Amino acid sequence: MASLGVNIDHLATVRQARRTVEPDPVTLALLAELGGADGITVHLREDRRHIQDRDVELLRATVRSRLNLEMAATDAMEAVALRVRPAMVTLVPERREEVTTEGGLDAAGQGNVLQGRVQRLQSAGIPVSLFIDPDGRQIDAAAASGSRWIELHTGRYADAPWADQPTELARLEKACDLARQRGLRVNAGHGLTYQNVEPVAAMAGVEELNIGHTIIARALAVGLTEAVREMKRLVTSPRREPLFGLGG
Ligand code: PXP
Repeated sequence: MASLGVNIDHLATVRQARRTVEPDPVTLALLAELGGADGITVHLREDRRHIQDRDVELLRATVRSRLNLEMAATDAMEAVALRVRPAMVTLVPERREEVTTEGGLDAAGQGNVLQGRVQRLQSAGIPVSLFIDPDGRQIDAAAASGSRWIELHTGRYADAPWADQPTELARLEKACDLARQRGLRVNAGHGLTYQNVEPVAAMAGVEELNIGHTIIARALAVGLTEAVREMKRLVTSPRREPLFGLGG
């Protein structure tokens, strides 16, 4: 049975739209854990468009499940990871102009550079996972890098028309089997939704699914009526004193 890593980046996206303090991904992560999250995943992007350094540091101190830090394979991000020491680092490709992580990491194209980075992080006690496409070359390169984990990019499966989903699912299954033969442990994620998650969750050998956007979207859907109800109460029967008094 797969476990669930909840990616909370888009809570921070909403906060950053106003550069204010709410919603706070740090406090809401605890609610995700109450809901059953087995891990909390955040992507500290180089442009800091959603998650901030402060979030990662506070999450490290407050998350009771496992903090998975997604990051680009750069020296600056490696320094952050070595300082914060999350339960796992997932190395992802990153392009500033992309809306989200569009493809897997080109592990095959990075050779020794990647090997060094994986070794430094893992010898500091931080397991490394490589976010890669379900492709034999990338799996071999991941195994050669010394990383103990991979995360299979499920985007092609998620974006495929219904008729093509079985083919994409079979590609994921084959990749998962190959990775396990190479001694890698396997997570998966990206683009999974309430409609398409089950066949991936049922795949033998996949240990954790990292899911973000659809859960945050669903939280708005199931929470909006109550949020409006609370505001309506304040607007229709307000008290006259300020909530926090006048001090002194
Ligand atoms: N896994 C990785 C490596 C990602 O980069 C992302 C997106 O940040 C996810 C999983 C979650 O994807 P989604 O938000 O589409 O569920």
